[in-house]
Amino acid sequence: MDTHPLQHLYSDTAQKAHSSTIRDLCALVARPEIRSLAGGWPDPEVFPGAELSAIFETLMRERRREIFQYGSTEGVLELRQLIAEQLMDTPEVLAPDSLLITQGSAQGMSLACQVFLDPGDIVLVGLPSYFGGTGAVASRGGVCIGVPVDEQGLDTEALARRLAGLKAEGRRVKGVYTVPNFQNPAGVTLSLERRQHLLELAAAHDLIVFEDDPYQDLCYEGSALPSLLALDREGRVVQLRSLSKIFSPGLRLGWAAGHPGIIRKMTEAKQFADATSNTPSQFMLLEYIKQDLLAGRIRSNRDFYRQKRDFMLKQMKLHFPEAIAWNTPQGGFFIFVRLPEDWDAADLLQESVDRDVAFVTGQPFFVDGRGKNTLRLSFSQASRDDIQAAITELGELLTDRISAEI
Ligand SMILES: Cc1ncc(COP(=O)(O)O)c(C=O)c1O
Repeated sequence: MDTHPLQHLYSDTAQKAHSSTIRDLCALVARPEIRSLAGGWPDPEVFPGAELSAIFETLMRERRREIFQYGSTEGVLELRQLIAEQLMDTPEVLAPDSLLITQGSAQGMSLACQVFLDPGDIVLVGLPSYFGGTGAVASRGGVCIGVPVDEQGLDTEALARRLAGLKAEGRRVKGVYTVPNFQNPAGVTLSLERRQHLLELAAAHDLIVFEDDPYQDLCYEGSALPSLLALDREGRVVQLRSLSKIFSPGLRLGWAAGHPGIIRKMTEAKQFADATSNTPSQFMLLEYIKQDLLAGRIRSNRDFYRQKRDFMLKQMKLHFPEAIAWNTPQGGFFIFVRLPEDWDAADLLQESVDRDVAFVTGQPFFVDGRGKNTLRLSFSQASRDDIQAAITELGELLTDRISAEI
């Protein structure tokens, strides 16, 4: 690890921060020979290249003075209006001052943590949970405590017990972090009943709910459930949305939605972070929505990724031995795999990388350090050929290990 002679000057929070799993992952999958089922990255096949280049040319001709200029911290007003009307399940209550354009949902979560968390504040999170979200909490000195996740998402009965237990110990909980739709990494969705229960608990214990929802539009079966933000009657939900998965992660487009008071506080925090989100990106998205292209793209992306999910599941069924368990996600990018209890996915990863196949071990998603025997496979970015080859290799590895144990 790189050290610096003046590291005693780092803040307490920075001193405590540890190596980023995301950074380690990027380094691994950057090797060109690797067939990666690791990152939750979209497939470049479906990036809107031709349409965006035509839009950009027009913008260069007609709006050059605006698109290269600073913009307002809140984001382009017309874009916020269109997002509220077309991309929210709460348009009737969402005025543009309830929306802040962010550089992806990662920035939204970071700003929300900045607004709500003091060092030592407790946030309850799923076991497992996306490590970008728990990392954002930790980066403000917050403390994540885990609550089990099952096929219905965050177990709100267990959450109720945890809240009661912490209260009895005199420990104040500030909030709950959840990815309600097609969760990263477990692929599960929070049921409607649990959404309501979660909000009841938030009201009873005076909590803020961080609703991190980048996968809502990637729903492969039926339609999305009402968001926590839409069900909330008390202004307790701050929702973080993203166009990274259905449009382009490189354009860094997302938004935070919630009570105008919260959004104003987050806007103040953003002023000192980056002043304004990338202006050309916002104008490109604005045009894209105005030309009525986004709804069609969302539909075609759903079909595209549904087929990739089905392809990967079929390959897993063909090649994985019976002792290995996994779920069928109804949307999103991830399949969560459970190995036999006493296995360590990190050993498997080592062998797998030797065969040029990468995945993500499950443990970094468990804030209590459990989950050693789990791993996450993503079907989003890899080509079908790579999915087939990688799953065949992994299947062989798993079968060899099981035979060695018998
Ligand atoms: C649950 C979750 N939240 C946030 C993000 C970050 O997305 P963005 O590119 O919008 O910052 C991801 C990306 O993988 C994610 O899975």
